[in-house]
Amino acid sequence: MRLLKFALTSLFFYLLLKAPGFFWDKPIPSSLVSMYMFFIVITVLLVMTITDEGARGLFAPIRALVEDPSKKLVRNAVFVILPLAAVFLAYDGGGLKATPSELRATHPAPPPLTRGYGKTFDLATLENPFRKIEKEDPEAFKSLVKEGGEVYFKNCFFCHGDKLDGRGHYAHALDPKPLPFTGGDTIAQLQESYVFWRILKGGPGLPREGGSSISAMPAWEKELTEEEIWKVILFLYDYTGNTPRSW
Ligand code: HEC
Repeated sequence: MRLLKFALTSLFFYLLLKAPGFFWDKPIPSSLVSMYMFFIVITVLLVMTITDEGARGLFAPIRALVEDPSKKLVRNAVFVILPLAAVFLAYDGGGLKATPSELRATHPAPPPLTRGYGKTFDLATLENPFRKIEKEDPEAFKSLVKEGGEVYFKNCFFCHGDKLDGRGHYAHALDPKPLPFTGGDTIAQLQESYVFWRILKGGPGLPREGGSSISAMPAWEKELTEEEIWKVILFLYDYTGNTPRSW
């Protein structure tokens, strides 16, 4: 009973953190969620085991499972399933891979200014010139998104995938892997000016801690026009249902 209560309490907090728009109108990065959950689980455990009786109640089902002769069948099943699950997790999570030779920041701080198309862009104030059309003229906006989609399927899907999930044809050969645009951890956390800088300058434009020497992300400034980059950004957000971060 108490074990169930513990599981339900933890689950409740997990869902609370995951629910978009509850604390902030943005999803919380999953690395932060795991960190919060670590402290939440410890706190819940502390509170629930503050008395001896509470601790006994919480661990009784686990003790019974290990000691009670009548639970032999369940016990054997659990002791087969748990190690198998651990093997699966370790195998699937790339546990056999060598550790990376250098630490790499996935979203390193951008430079304050960046140059392209004969201009200097101030990344702190730069905005997507097409974004305002979303409200002013939804029909015109739709066709801009469509043009962005064409740019994407001519240039980007080989790596970032036809579902924008980072699983393009070339993805398995690359390390670092192309980032997915779906989910709450990449573009959902970024401003459009950041995404613009990343597409403009690609891997070579990353600072050292971003892994400039190993990223396969091309710099698109010679291939795409400024408008094409802004349109493909519209498409990335529109297709994945994400909204850009803003001030
Ligand atoms: C040759 C493979 C390849 C192609 C083609 C490619 N990318 Fe990438 N892209 C990557 C890789 C690998 C990363 C992750 C490493 C990094 O951040 O540089 C990345 C990262 C990104 C990021 C950073 C996302 C984030 O969360 O920081 C953006 C934005 C991006 N790509 C957009 C595009 C767009 C738009 C195109 C097409 C115009 C494109 N990419 C084409 C390989 C590619």
